[in-house]
Amino acid sequence: MEKLLTAGPVSLDARVLRALSEPLTSHREEGFRKIVGEIEEGLKRAYGTSDGVVCILSGSGTLAVDAMVNSIVGRGENVLLVSHGEFGNRLCDSISRRGARPTKISATEGNAVGEASVYEAIESGRYDTLAMVYTETSIGMAHRSSDKMGKFAKEHGLKVIVDAASAMFGEDLTLDAGCFDAVSTCSQKCLAAPPGIALVGLSEEAVEIAGRAECASRYLDLGLYARKMNEGYDLPQTPAVSLFYGLREALRIMLDAGMNEWMEKHRRLAAELYSRLPEYGYARVVKDGRFLSNSVAAFEVPHGCTAESVTGRLREGGYVVSEGMGSLKGKAIRIGTMGDISREDISDVISILQDLVG
Ligand SMILES: Cc1ncc(COP(=O)(O)O)c(C=O)c1O
Repeated sequence: MEKLLTAGPVSLDARVLRALSEPLTSHREEGFRKIVGEIEEGLKRAYGTSDGVVCILSGSGTLAVDAMVNSIVGRGENVLLVSHGEFGNRLCDSISRRGARPTKISATEGNAVGEASVYEAIESGRYDTLAMVYTETSIGMAHRSSDKMGKFAKEHGLKVIVDAASAMFGEDLTLDAGCFDAVSTCSQKCLAAPPGIALVGLSEEAVEIAGRAECASRYLDLGLYARKMNEGYDLPQTPAVSLFYGLREALRIMLDAGMNEWMEKHRRLAAELYSRLPEYGYARVVKDGRFLSNSVAAFEVPHGCTAESVTGRLREGGYVVSEGMGSLKGKAIRIGTMGDISREDISDVISILQDLVG
């Protein structure tokens, strides 16, 4: 069977696969509320929050972003958006559709937005919210300055929202560190669960903001999810029950491993790729070593190769990786270090890529 080393979805542990086929139960029964309760308490540990809430929605990462934006950002608000690529653009789109006014700060491709320009914009007093993508999956950049920027923004009275789809649980980021109000992610990334569950962690303050928000959509209303969660782990709508079973098992595996060890595993696997592949002509897309993502490692393909030929060769060897996105389409590959993969898998991938260039 092929191993998924894509930017998500990822290969699943056999325990998670088995859990997916457990018999269905009614989501209005006490037994299911217990399952949701276990998941919620586990997610709060994983998010590093004691007073916040993690909203669990049935849907993909885009739903998590839309719910976060529609529940935290008000119509007509001015939003400062730090963007490093495709998912920054999508976050911008979501904010515009909400009827808010985003102003984008970006850098040249592969480079990180500098702190000074963001601090200056925050100090201008023009913005209500700071929005960021922690790991820009399209280029494999973990913008580790997001924490400092978030803290600065909060000290200046802004709300801070973060799309952490491929960062959460693979980077050192927690909700209660006073840097962020809302952090979204999804099940098919570092959590190593099947796709289909959207998560948004809300700080205690953000729960209140969402509770007061005039959210135009019931499905996106995180105030409602948070209230239901606090009232005994009920859910506002019919959840994707089988996916909750898978999520519970994946969460148990992650928490048993320990959050620090879990993050370290991603970091070690990615570090192996970053240190070995440039020797064979695969240049790192992100040049500044401080911002190399732990979960998605992006490389330009060597001269004379196409991304298609490289991904094709890897597929013959049993590994599926992602191609570049946007302007990197056809020119780069992205290798995910998430999910049920081992150091041997990474070594295998490196050998195949080495053989390809002779
Ligand atoms: C940073 C980021 N945001 C949002 C998404 C969208 O997630 P989905 O495709 O699950 O809707 C992704 C997916 O890769 C992502 O990496």
